[in-house]
Amino acid sequence: MKTAVYPGSFDPFTNGHLDLVQRASQLFDRVIVSVAINSSKNSFFTVEERMAILREVLASMPGVEVASFEGLLVDYCRTVGARAIVRGLRAVTDFDYEYAIFQLNHDLNAEVETVFLLAAKEYSFVSSTLIKEVARYGRSVEQHAPPAVSRALLRKFGHAK
Ligand code: PNS
Repeated sequence: MKTAVYPGSFDPFTNGHLDLVQRASQLFDRVIVSVAINSSKNSFFTVEERMAILREVLASMPGVEVASFEGLLVDYCRTVGARAIVRGLRAVTDFDYEYAIFQLNHDLNAEVETVFLLAAKEYSFVSSTLIKEVARYGRSVEQHAPPAVSRALLRKFGHAK
């Protein structure tokens, strides 16, 4: 069974992330969408909130699981039996960051391969940061994120009716 980990902050999960999960699930038997627990990073949603949203959004997708992890990603991959890490690449701005992560992970464990999927053009400019900015001012972000995410953002910003 080919298992991949799709790690991220997912703070929050966007339609770009969703597209990647769907495409990765065509390539791997099992895709573990795993929220990175990083206590030094100020996140908007708690890990539990992000996982609850992911479970709701990804519930009907066969072979897709939701989890969280703490510590080094390559160690986590070994624990869950994954030989591949899936990451998305949007415009050129993502490249330097992703290349650095890839190099580091490769040095730590060369047996874990990173598979990059290029963002479809309709998601090239969607980011968690930007959709938070829109929701902060009370606007729905359903154009760019699953409805559950849009609702959770508006609620957390105090705009829910
Ligand atoms: O969605 P993000 O914030 O770009 O995801 C970054 C993430 C979580 C994949 C990366 O920070 C990570 O793998 N963190 C776990 C700790 C680790 O393994 N660090 C070494 C590689 S950066």
